[in-house]
Amino acid sequence: MSQGFTEITEEIYSYINDKFTNEDLFLNNLQNEAASLGIPDISISPQQASFLGFILKVINAKYVLEIGTLAGYSAISMARELPSNGKLITVEIEKERVEFVRRKAKEDGLENIIEVINSDAVEFFKNYKPSFKFDLIFVDADKQGYVDYLSNSLQLLRKGGIFAADNALAFGEIAKKNLDEREPEVTAVRKFNDVFASNPNLKSSLVTIGDGLAIGVKL
Ligand SMILES: C[S@@+](CC[C@H](N)C(=O)[O-])C[C@H]1O[C@@H](n2cnc3c(N)ncnc32)[C@H](O)[C@@H]1O
Repeated sequence: MSQGFTEITEEIYSYINDKFTNEDLFLNNLQNEAASLGIPDISISPQQASFLGFILKVINAKYVLEIGTLAGYSAISMARELPSNGKLITVEIEKERVEFVRRKAKEDGLENIIEVINSDAVEFFKNYKPSFKFDLIFVDADKQGYVDYLSNSLQLLRKGGIFAADNALAFGEIAKKNLDEREPEVTAVRKFNDVFASNPNLKSSLVTIGDGLAIGVKL
């Protein structure tokens, strides 16, 4: 039995992107337009988008919640996998990003599926009382909030639903001994990974795509 692993070289990374991702011209243009407006290039990778899309199909998802919208790359990628009566609610603190994503969702014909909420995630969780449970919740915002977002999300997630969080490898620094200026964020992700991995209400895993996707199913 193998105890090893295959290092993902640039070549292998490109190979996987070529064969197993589906970033189209619209998403490619979205990234360029976002960059031209000064929105940082910190979205999930095409491989992560593809993997989340796969999960959405496996669980036959209808309701998705996302914390951290940015320019809508992940929201649009996921919303495309939902049925026409599905709903993807995405929460973003920065107003101009919210307006950008509302426009892009409309351009991609997803305005009936994607709802962008302009709010701090903490406030959102305090006030949001849906009449349904989510099939998947994806957290990709401030790392210091992850532990709280996990516990709040579990209240809103159906049994058998999926919780996922980006940056579980903390920008590659998760196992580093001497931390640099990102120390507060890395420490927050370490704390989150500990809480996440030991939560008895979840069967969890860390998938090493992008900057690491923590993923778990609610038991
Ligand atoms: C890494 S980006 C999200 C990327 C996006 N999920 C994607 O892959 O396309 C993180 C986003 O979370 C937002 N954010 C940070 N802290 C937040 C908070 N407390 N509440 C809501 N949004 C927050 C930031 O403004 C930023 O746009």
